[in-house]
Amino acid sequence: MAKSMSPLLSLIVILLSSIMINHLPVASLKQWCVSMQTAKDEQLEDNINFACSNGIDCRPILPSGACFKPNTTISHASYLMNDYYQSHGRTNEACFFFFPNSAMLTSRDPSYNQCIYK
Ligand SMILES: *[C@@H]1O[C@H](CO)[C@@H](O)[C@H](O)[C@H]1NC(C)=O
Repeated sequence: MAKSMSPLLSLIVILLSSIMINHLPVASLKQWCVSMQTAKDEQLEDNINFACSNGIDCRPILPSGACFKPNTTISHASYLMNDYYQSHGRTNEACFFFFPNSAMLTSRDPSYNQCIYK
């Protein structure tokens, strides 16, 4: 026969639960900066050039790299724009200012196969 919890024990359980909810892993709130589907290829090419000339490792989008396929401007730009965003403080500026009219934030991990988005 199960005993019902005392009011004090119930209160402790509720307090502990709310503390745990407030300490859920930050990973669940992570965001990635990726290309918008409506972005113009010309702008995406500018984004690729911007990232590659501002310290981002662009080898993953080369033919030998894990993110070369699909071989499309939008896919290559997404990978590099996100790398730039992740390595520049994850600020709105690092996503939207340098990649105008072509970037969006998503809370869904865009990684696929061996192409791991940071
Ligand atoms: C990748 O796409 C570019 C642009 O469409 C094309 O010029 C190039 O030949 C492609 N490379 C491969 C290996 O498919």
